[in-house]
Amino acid sequence: MYIFTTLKTKCSSLLQLFLGLALLLGVSKSDPDPLQDYCIANNKSPQSFFASSTPCIDPNQAVVSHFVTSILSEPGNTSGNLFGSSRTLTNTVNFPGLNTMGLAMARLDLAAGGIIPPHMHPRASEVTICLKGPLTVGFVDSSDRLFMQILQPGDSFVFPKGLIHFLYNPNSKTPALTLSGLNSQSPGFHLTSVATFASKPEIPDEVLKKAFQINDQDVKRIRNNLKEVDYACLCK
Ligand SMILES: *[C@@H]1O[C@H](CO)[C@@H](O)[C@H](O)[C@H]1NC(C)=O
Repeated sequence: MYIFTTLKTKCSSLLQLFLGLALLLGVSKSDPDPLQDYCIANNKSPQSFFASSTPCIDPNQAVVSHFVTSILSEPGNTSGNLFGSSRTLTNTVNFPGLNTMGLAMARLDLAAGGIIPPHMHPRASEVTICLKGPLTVGFVDSSDRLFMQILQPGDSFVFPKGLIHFLYNPNSKTPALTLSGLNSQSPGFHLTSVATFASKPEIPDEVLKKAFQINDQDVKRIRNNLKEVDYACLCK
């Protein structure tokens, strides 16, 4: 009986370990490895099917300009939204040589007092280097612990994949700037406020009222506030 029980315990802990590993592998899976040196995105080819990358041009047509972009050299317009921030992201259109490489870069401009609101990237971890600061950054782990830091120019910070994070320029006079690398060519951008209160169609009021312990007016007010969010340029 004793042997049987220990065997069973061992089996179940082995099974747990195996399941844990499988889960970990599944969760931390990154973009697929490229099948060739490069796959310059053919942005003219009709996209009639959903694939994880854009089709390539003929490799003989590749030129060095496919591997260069100046998209991150321009300051973003931080007055175009409620948050006083702007996010410029490389993609296969503005940076065709990036296709299938499993990475992307972002430039984040924050006006004085500006924020990039709490959000997460379902498909990428992000490492950011502060070029103009100070800049307050933080993420919350899945046990709701906050890790927050004030970055000075030159400091780097990592936001683990899938965890909610934010950036805030605490300075009331000067802008902040940070450059990020993300380990997916399509990291995804999920703003928690918009996802909960401004999805289309909307999550029922009753759900939000109970979830946030708020009343009808609160739901209406928050929905109304977020209606103005034109963050489309940030949602790529
Ligand atoms: C920035 O965005 C605002 C609001 O959309 C617009 O009025 C303004 O002209 C833009 N500024 C620049 C420099 O593009």
